[in-house]
Amino acid sequence: MCEHAAMPLDQEMLDRFVVRCTGLSWAEAHNAMHHKRVAVNGHMCQKYHRRLRPDDRVAVDGVDLGDPPDRSILVCHKPVGLACSHAEQDAPLIYGIVPQHLRHPDLNTVGRLDRNTSGLLLLTFDGKYLVRVAAPERKLRKRYRIGYSGELPPDAVERCAAGLMIDGFDTPCRPAPLVLEGPGRASLELAEGRHHQVKRMIAALGGKVVALHRDRIGGLDLPADLAPGEMRPLTRDERSAVGAD
Ligand code: URA
Repeated sequence: MCEHAAMPLDQEMLDRFVVRCTGLSWAEAHNAMHHKRVAVNGHMCQKYHRRLRPDDRVAVDGVDLGDPPDRSILVCHKPVGLACSHAEQDAPLIYGIVPQHLRHPDLNTVGRLDRNTSGLLLLTFDGKYLVRVAAPERKLRKRYRIGYSGELPPDAVERCAAGLMIDGFDTPCRPAPLVLEGPGRASLELAEGRHHQVKRMIAALGGKVVALHRDRIGGLDLPADLAPGEMRPLTRDERSAVGAD
């Protein structure tokens, strides 16, 4: 119903919401409010600039305008081959696959996945949300499925659980549950985001990552309806599953 949202709904004004959702012009929307045809939560409202809360219900001529869409956070199934950067020159950018109606000048990926990593990626133009997901004190876990070559040592699980030292860093990684899933396959949960961390951890254990896929952030699994390359707004349930609010 609403195709052109560009800001979190909790910041949106009533007249803008009505215009977006109905196709009325600004003048027509104001006229409808003036003539008491617009209700918020069942009460006629003539305040054009009333700021709407996410749970407000708006109706015009008794017709509910539907769930207020919040397009401030997008969930994406990142395919391999795209760079999570605004500046990369030699690879197509993740921003190139954002559908036109979801584009926003301040859209950023929430953290980064390497070009050859696939899987669950969030994008947002809400700077505060971005910081919350990444904040180390929240210990929001991200799970990676790994294909690797080489042999991992018998104490690999214990070493990751204790906090592994990796190249380029002076302090050990936070304890990270490693699960050995079969020959050349493992999963690792990280509560921090050091550069190329999974690849460095597997390298520190003597292996080499050959395929990497993220399938969970917090309590949110990569939604099954998203094929590689697809994205859509995060639903409210999915947002609470992430656990960053
Ligand atoms: N760790 C990596 O090495 N690469 C990623 O893309 C994400 C985590």
